[in-house]
Amino acid sequence: MTAHTYAYRDPILTLTNVSISLNNEPILRDINAQVLDVTRPNMRQGQVVGFYGRSGIGKSVLCRIMAGLIAPGTGTVEVGLAQQPVLPGMVGFVQQRYPLFDHRTLHDNLLVAAQRKHAPADARQHVDAYLERFGLAPHRRKYPALLSGGQRQRAAIAQQLLCSDHLILLDEPFSGLDVAMIDEVKRIIVEVTTMDELNTVIIVSHDIVTTTALADRLWLLGYEHDAAGALVPGATISPQHQYNLAEMGLAWHENVEAEPEFAQFVEHIKNEIRGS
Ligand SMILES: Nc1ncnc2c1ncn2[C@@H]1O[C@H](COP(=O)(O)OP(=O)(O)OP(=O)(O)O)[C@@H](O)[C@H]1O
Ligand SMILES: [Mg+2]
Repeated sequence: MTAHTYAYRDPILTLTNVSISLNNEPILRDINAQVLDVTRPNMRQGQVVGFYGRSGIGKSVLCRIMAGLIAPGTGTVEVGLAQQPVLPGMVGFVQQRYPLFDHRTLHDNLLVAAQRKHAPADARQHVDAYLERFGLAPHRRKYPALLSGGQRQRAAIAQQLLCSDHLILLDEPFSGLDVAMIDEVKRIIVEVTTMDELNTVIIVSHDIVTTTALADRLWLLGYEHDAAGALVPGATISPQHQYNLAEMGLAWHENVEAEPEFAQFVEHIKNEIRGS
């Protein structure tokens, strides 16, 4: 176990008392959580949050709230160094099913995204850089239907990075990918978070090992019990279910999966998810 030197600076994402009911059913209750810019000496170190919870508990709903696509019933989401209330388009969001325009080539899909943030000449340059970086340059003229699942996934991540400001939500980025593709998406996530100090990726996943290995922070969405032991309606991310992996000496290790402390911690997390 190696602990790295690190420090925290300004907030990048702040959730304050976020609750929502859908069809009169409480889904999320009083969520308070924050992501701070983590810094390491002589490095550009972005942030990676692993976000877990049982199926159907409300992870995708919280993603839509964090992306500004639906308003919470109560509470606020603030993003960026300016900590502005989130509006659609500020946060990149690769949804569980990620949409690309079927009638545009990969290159043109990315250009549409880039032009939302950059002037036309700049946008083209950025698109070329991302195509190269994500190994997609040979496929630039293909239409989405001709891309493999992994290529689509990389294209969707590139698309969201091109048009958003630093913060990007990946909902189930590893599902349906083979082991080699999973390695590739992992590599891209690491690359994204070393490209800019402020880049922050929130990964929703049921793949606890892969995601925990990438993360420096974890959130576990679950139900709480009241004093009488009854389940409180609406899921939340309680303070004891917000883990700081940097503090635990489990962040930013090349081969953390091989460490016994990591395996123990993953078992602990799995048990917490089972019991939540
Ligand atoms: N638009 C909606 N209207 C009503 N209920 C909804 C709506 N969207 C989601 N829900 C409900 O909110 C709950 C949480 O759904 P959500 O999709 O966030 O789960 P999840 O944690 O992402 O699950 P999974 O891991 O299976 O993707 C579910 O009970 C779902 O039926
Ligand atoms: Mg979901």
